[in-house]
Amino acid sequence: MRQKIVAGNWKMNNTLNEGLKLTTEIVNMVADEVRGDVKVILAPPFVLMPQVKNLIKNVDKIYLSAQNCNENASGAFTGEISASMISSIGATHVIIGHSERREYFNENNAQLAKKVDLALVNNLTPIFCCGESLEIRESGNYETFICNQIKESLFHLSAEAFSKVVIAYEPIWAIGTGKTASSQQAQEVHAALRKYVAGQYGDAIAENLSILYGGSCKPDNAKELFACPDVDGGLIGGASLKSRDFTDIVKSF
Ligand code: PGA
Repeated sequence: MRQKIVAGNWKMNNTLNEGLKLTTEIVNMVADEVRGDVKVILAPPFVLMPQVKNLIKNVDKIYLSAQNCNENASGAFTGEISASMISSIGATHVIIGHSERREYFNENNAQLAKKVDLALVNNLTPIFCCGESLEIRESGNYETFICNQIKESLFHLSAEAFSKVVIAYEPIWAIGTGKTASSQQAQEVHAALRKYVAGQYGDAIAENLSILYGGSCKPDNAKELFACPDVDGGLIGGASLKSRDFTDIVKSF
């Protein structure tokens, strides 16, 4: 059985008090309402991470993620945060290659490969994001584009290392737009990705790979998306900022 995952990407939202309130509500709702084997991941901004960790430390279903890490191990990179720092405060995951990082900070596939390596060296699970723009979707070449993102940032990994990675498919045209990919569109890409991974690493590793969908995932569409055979959960932006919506999405398997 593949691991089911719902991860909340808070992006650049929530002050300390807001973040602690949201975390407390999610901890209580998850404890009261969530049964089964879904892994819940919270990805707050860096400065909130230690205190969020403190609130979730005794909750076995909820894990802590960073939204990014630098591609260098340490050194003179003012304002940056390393994978080892993230790991040292008890986080277990790091989102790598989110489309907003690619678009606004010009992150490229080769640079993301280095981030993935440092995450793994520091025992962090990379949640590696891929996905096409509207222009590429409309050109019809989106599967080739997405597979290339995976190839250039992940296929240098050994089979053992790759088996620790989580992939998130996030079509850029669906992020924060209210325009979700249909469950057919998500399933089509997830199945293509799994097949592509099987070609490189074999069926067993591909079968075990968790592939999350992201892009305007909400309580009212999560059930249909998560019911797709190759959709193993979600990476949630806007709806992760409301405890009720986020928990309802977690309960959508
Ligand atoms: P959204 O964001 O749910 O607000 O569309 C998803 C994401 O960017 O991870």
